Amino acid sequence: MRLRKCWPWYPWILSSIALIGGCERQAPPAAESVPQQAARDVSQPDGWADDLALPLPEDLNPDPNILEFNLEARIQNLELIAGHQTPAWTYNGTVPGPLIRGKVGDRVIVHFKNSLPEETTIHWHGLRVPNTMDGAPGATQDPIQSGAEFRYEYTLTDAGTYWYHPHIDSSTQVGRGLYGAILVEDPNDPKAFGDDLVLLLSDIGLNEQGELLPADSGGDFGDLFGREGAVLLVNGKVQPTLKVRTGKQQRWRIINATRARYYNLRLRNHRFMRLGGDNGLAARSSDVYNLILPPGERADAVFTPADPPGSSNMLRWVPTERGYGSTFNRSTEDLLKIETVDAAPVTPEPLPTELRTIEPIDITNAKERTVELTISISSSDVWMGINGVPFWDSQAFEATLGETEVWRIVNNSDFSHPFHMHGYFFQVLDDSRVPEWKDTVNVPTKSELKLAVRYDDRPGTWMFHCHILDHAEVGMMGHLIVRDPNAPAVSAARPGSIHGGHKRH
Ligand code: C2O
Ligand code: CU
Repeated sequence: MRLRKCWPWYPWILSSIALIGGCERQAPPAAESVPQQAARDVSQPDGWADDLALPLPEDLNPDPNILEFNLEARIQNLELIAGHQTPAWTYNGTVPGPLIRGKVGDRVIVHFKNSLPEETTIHWHGLRVPNTMDGAPGATQDPIQSGAEFRYEYTLTDAGTYWYHPHIDSSTQVGRGLYGAILVEDPNDPKAFGDDLVLLLSDIGLNEQGELLPADSGGDFGDLFGREGAVLLVNGKVQPTLKVRTGKQQRWRIINATRARYYNLRLRNHRFMRLGGDNGLAARSSDVYNLILPPGERADAVFTPADPPGSSNMLRWVPTERGYGSTFNRSTEDLLKIETVDAAPVTPEPLPTELRTIEPIDITNAKERTVELTISISSSDVWMGINGVPFWDSQAFEATLGETEVWRIVNNSDFSHPFHMHGYFFQVLDDSRVPEWKDTVNVPTKSELKLAVRYDDRPGTWMFHCHILDHAEVGMMGHLIVRDPNAPAVSAARPGSIHGGHKRH
């Protein structure tokens, strides 16, 4: 507590706290002038986020509540590393693809064309879309063949930070650049949180000529560990620059779109105010030193620049323990340059602590399922599964619309797994966490957790899997059929070609 208060935010705050509380951490620097302006009275510095700008799709629909656009998956040469062209796999020619930005209630219509040499689909990660729009090949739609088109249409029902990506051969397709951000705004959110900035974090595996590494690089070890690309990108760029003004808040919407890399984000001299993550605001804000995001997860956090005017700093990736050998011999990496402009500091806006009422899901009478995330290694092969069964041999879980279940997710394997569920938000049953709605949660190696989920709407077949996409590809995935007792039966057949990746069986 004491330490936290003594964190060197601003010289003027520090000096007063030191006077009142007897701060033992460090002597305050000579008091500077008290800021004259409040954060709300100034704008972000000119061109603050130009280097991080994400393309917006061209809206074909004049209705302000409908976002309708063309989206084409195609290979495009891009200069991701200086002086070299990479034949990236893109949406509309950019990495990341266009930012889908709307407000709760907006309708989204996507005219999608697959101009890749392979089949694909799009999954709208985290959005509560109708089952037929979920992009799970064989379960909710047929694979979209090379040259073919598909119309996706859905309503943005929940504020939050989401993303979209392919659901076929996903480790390879995502790893080559197919992903984009989705930001669903709630117009009632306090302005004090600051200006929104989407930070889509990804990595890509390239050789020195900028060519893509083969899909099966690393072989079985690549499957086991998960393929991390050595080139780290923020909104598609290597170490881009963000301009900030001391005391002027920004609201970062961070997305981990890598196929296997965990992020532990740190910024010297700073803490973050975490507001929530996957599916909008948490019940309360929390003051955190670092932001940790496994693949697929998002964070929503207020960043209050606290460096002196005219200085620069670096947002860093710090190795995170995620199982066997994951931090061995690894050092921190630079992600994003933060330049504090030479302008007078402003007084940050006070932030609310209570953010949202999150009613706990009622689990009296809930059925409990055990979902063990398993890894099997033989002398010639590595495969993974749910309860020991790889996806291609699995039987569907079955449930009825309106039911509530508790899933006990067990991980006795040597790696951590980010568990993701399609179709429904869940709540993690853990009193030490701030309540929030989630769709992806890390299950650390040698641990278990419980989550509550209610099948409130939208019957159909929904996937669940590890979001280390290499793990999903080699079998760590299952499917759940939620039946509507009042509707004709849906087929219980196992979807055929999901994640039909490089692995042959
Ligand atoms: Cu983002 Cu089935 O995944
Ligand atoms: Cu996994």
